[in-house]
Amino acid sequence: MDKINVGLLGFGTIGTGVVEVFQKNGDLLQERLGLPLELVRIADLDITTDRGVTVDPGLLSTDADALLEDPSIQVVIELIGGYEPARTFVLKAISQGKHVVTANKALLAKHGDEIFAAAESAGVNVMFEAAVGGGIPIISAIKENLCANRFHSLFGILNGTCNYILTRMADDGDDFETVLKDAQEKGYAEADPTFDVEGIDTAHKLALLCGLCFGTSVDFDSIYTEGISKVTALDIQFADAFGYKLKLLAIGKMDNGEIEARVHPTMIPESYPLADIDGVFNAVRLVGDFVGPVLLSGHGAGSEATASAVMGDVVSVARDLVTGCSPHSPAMACPRSVVRDLSIKPMSDIVSSYYLRFFVNDQPGVLGTITGILGKYQISIESMMQPHRHEAEAVPIVLMTHEANESNIQAALTEIDRQDVIQGESLFIRIENRLD
Ligand code: HSE
Repeated sequence: MDKINVGLLGFGTIGTGVVEVFQKNGDLLQERLGLPLELVRIADLDITTDRGVTVDPGLLSTDADALLEDPSIQVVIELIGGYEPARTFVLKAISQGKHVVTANKALLAKHGDEIFAAAESAGVNVMFEAAVGGGIPIISAIKENLCANRFHSLFGILNGTCNYILTRMADDGDDFETVLKDAQEKGYAEADPTFDVEGIDTAHKLALLCGLCFGTSVDFDSIYTEGISKVTALDIQFADAFGYKLKLLAIGKMDNGEIEARVHPTMIPESYPLADIDGVFNAVRLVGDFVGPVLLSGHGAGSEATASAVMGDVVSVARDLVTGCSPHSPAMACPRSVVRDLSIKPMSDIVSSYYLRFFVNDQPGVLGTITGILGKYQISIESMMQPHRHEAEAVPIVLMTHEANESNIQAALTEIDRQDVIQGESLFIRIENRLD
């Protein structure tokens, strides 16, 4: 073997970053690998748009099959995104005996079982460091460096678009729609932001992290997913007044053989490590039984950071090829034969502290009505605030609770909302007071 050949499927933003790594750091890669690593084909439906990099036109083609069937290519990088044709192409690459490196979290969260099974049978690697947290090396940390640990929880800020929007709402006091529009104009949010702001992208990433940490296969559809589109600047200001920051958190916990896997706006104390991860940055905090808490943070998106993760995987695979090793670690951290079937705890069973916000008629007895109903459902209040008083207008009442069962919170709020003195629907936001 005198070199390793690589094929690239998808010449978009990250694909362009990958080409730049080959061009700018090709000599470094060769030095670290001991052999040349060569990008020999690029396939994309669009091969005419100027990506700002100069590429030998002979490398470019619209024919993905020609790339997948090229016997000289040992590693295929899939950066098409989405379910199809990415799934078909990845399965074809595997059936051709090629190793696969992908950034496609949606594909793996939905079709990971099928793809990992095919890779295990074919004896090839499927690597996906770039699928979670952009440039942050969280996948290899869990699979390799921390593999001696049992994990019982993980918390992640895994979507830069949401984190940017929440940071701006907190800093400027603007509402969600205003900040989103500005983020779209600046290129920080997609024209169709649904996947990001509704928490779907975060849930895809959480499915992969829970699978890796807890040795199970997490069905993406069973992850409770609530995005940030209903968050208001007012609630962020109240959170601040109580000493909390609001983040879209991915939460994974192992509790007596049952998993909690949920994505939702969450208040965390402003002194906690994840609270100062602002703007487009991502972070993951894990606690291992031997290592203790580990916090990894960095750029969670963008062409350069994501290309860095993609190329780290490519070099890892190439090193195995150079030394003649078979895939050195299973895609999901343990062989498929020992992947456990664990159930996901229904949201009604979770226990959390809560921020509750009501708009009420400002008259005697209202607070008593609310707290009376909360007491009936075993919900204990930690603190409360009624910040403004405007005669003849609805005023907000904000309560922070001690730990309570979610089904009790839901039942209490349904009953409270039926009271005449309550204006509109009440709102609750979960609080994580312990990141362990
Ligand atoms: N769109 C994601 C984000 C990056 O905003 O963080 C890719 O998953």
